[in-house]
Amino acid sequence: METQALIAFFEDLHRHPELGFEEVRTTARVREALTAAGVELLDTGLKTGLIAVVRGSRPGRVIGLRCDMDALPIQEESGLAYASQEPGRMHACGHDFHTACMLGAALLLKEREKDLAGTVKIVFQPAEELGTGGAKSVVDTGLLSDVQEFYAIHSYPYFDPGALGIKEGPVMAAPDRFSVTLYGKGAHAAQPHDAIDPVPALAALIQGFQTAVSRNADPFDPAVVTIAHVQAGTAWNVIPESALLEGTVRTLDNGVRRMIRDRLEKLTSSIAAAYGCTAEFRYVEGPDPVVNDAALCAVCKDLALRMGFQVDRQEDTMGGEDFSEYLKICPGVFVRVGTGGHVASHHPAFTVDSAALPAAAEFFASLARERAEYM
Ligand code: NI
Repeated sequence: METQALIAFFEDLHRHPELGFEEVRTTARVREALTAAGVELLDTGLKTGLIAVVRGSRPGRVIGLRCDMDALPIQEESGLAYASQEPGRMHACGHDFHTACMLGAALLLKEREKDLAGTVKIVFQPAEELGTGGAKSVVDTGLLSDVQEFYAIHSYPYFDPGALGIKEGPVMAAPDRFSVTLYGKGAHAAQPHDAIDPVPALAALIQGFQTAVSRNADPFDPAVVTIAHVQAGTAWNVIPESALLEGTVRTLDNGVRRMIRDRLEKLTSSIAAAYGCTAEFRYVEGPDPVVNDAALCAVCKDLALRMGFQVDRQEDTMGGEDFSEYLKICPGVFVRVGTGGHVASHHPAFTVDSAALPAAAEFFASLARERAEYM
């Protein structure tokens, strides 16, 4: 596919964003482009998402490339000529760019299949933004169990096109979710002695939860506990029956993650008991932290420098990503591609500079080719 056609493909996806597990049009557009070039598609049985395969002419290894396809429920305010035409939906995390990039890489690999050793599987994943569901649905097909190395792309607005962010070790956090409901006994606000008021218990819990990071976690192990939503009562003169809080825990290490979960659970039961309330504690684990393999990061850096990219360490983030589902199969690297714009992802004014597209597609095609060859 010519560069102009690839950029037009990206802009078309940008105009028509689709939410997680609803990427029907996006899937159809990618399938059409791959089929037109004669690229083999695996039968995944998935409603959205695809796995393409390019098989070399000689034996070699199996390499996986992964992109995600879904958009966010955000009203776009980018001012772009090719802005979203779907009200309340926007590609605000660059997944349109990721999809176009891996389509470009798949087509380059197909053109060069006679020179290719081994096999490259290119994953177009649905529903990354929803949590574990998207990656898991693809991994559970069993069609990727032979992959020996995985590489993922993510746009990075703080580097300009021509720069890549490659960092060994943890690069994305485990995004877990918790909620607590405290049950007391309602009464007239003027008669607290007839009530078991869950509100002071909720306040104690909010304060107590902060100590899981400040007093229990090692200061050199990054961790976040955010209580983002609290709710109690409906009127100024009624002591409520119950109170709720919910939020997120972010960690880069599964040991720290378990420790914080335990602390929150113990704080909940003891503080609730101290205030005479009962409590329901719910904790939903998101994907594992994304941990980049150090040796494969060195491989990516070496190739990037040979191709003329500037290689930099991106800023750390406690955001989450379900690429870690693939890293349960084999090691890999989550590569950040500079796409300019300098506006955070998930913001209504987020943009991607499509000038980064051709070189990024070439990078992932070359990476897959070299690694499939490597013995
Ligand atoms: Ni994203």
